Amino acid sequence: MRIDVVTIFPGYLAPLREALLGRAVGTGLLDIAVHDLRDWTHDVHQAVDDAPYGGGPGMVMRPHVWGEALDDVLAADPRPARLVVPTPAGRPFTQAAAHAYAAQERLVFACGRYEGIDQRVVDHYAASMPVDEISIGDYVLVGGEVAVLVVVEAVARLLPGVLGNPRSAAEDSFSDGLLEGPAYTRPEVWRGHAVPEVLRSGNHGAIARWRRDRALERTAERRPDLIAALPPDALDEADRAL
Ligand code: ADE
Repeated sequence: MRIDVVTIFPGYLAPLREALLGRAVGTGLLDIAVHDLRDWTHDVHQAVDDAPYGGGPGMVMRPHVWGEALDDVLAADPRPARLVVPTPAGRPFTQAAAHAYAAQERLVFACGRYEGIDQRVVDHYAASMPVDEISIGDYVLVGGEVAVLVVVEAVARLLPGVLGNPRSAAEDSFSDGLLEGPAYTRPEVWRGHAVPEVLRSGNHGAIARWRRDRALERTAERRPDLIAALPPDALDEADRAL
């Protein structure tokens, strides 16, 4: 998969070269390029923003700088791309979206700062390619860079070969619509707290049932919205008995 990120702070994206993502880049599973938006400015001040029409606080990122940058970045690779624009005003980014993105050949991220990017940039590209404005949560960051790190990590770990054990992704929180339950490792007793007996029983059926029950309990308590969103056939008799 090819990923391009256009930003005025390329250094912010340095973590894309670390750990799991760095390894995926090293093995060729991921090809990441980070571009400095200011490379497409023509004035001495390299200005990327201007005052908003209609007044109000803050500055808006100028459309022509973004247009030149995105035209060049998109033209540099023939693979069909999806443009992703992180913004607190976007649709929520979810695990389902991460799976959809993982099936793409190419993602191009446009990082806004200030009060965002002139809306015509999104409207212009949306006429000729898929474009998503996405939010990573109901809070406001100072720019899209951290959101890109979040999205790229969520997507990259779903690419075949990136995780050591593919079951890790298959058995994640959200993969069955529920939060994952608790996990334990040695020792059997730590500071007086024992590992639940059933996990040491060797009874795989009982362990699976116990894990399912804990996932259901945790989800009901912390994210009742997820329980409400489960398809009608998602709960079996034993689930309902809980
Ligand atoms: N930019 C600023 N806040 C954001 C958020 N919550 N999600 C995505 N991009 C953002």
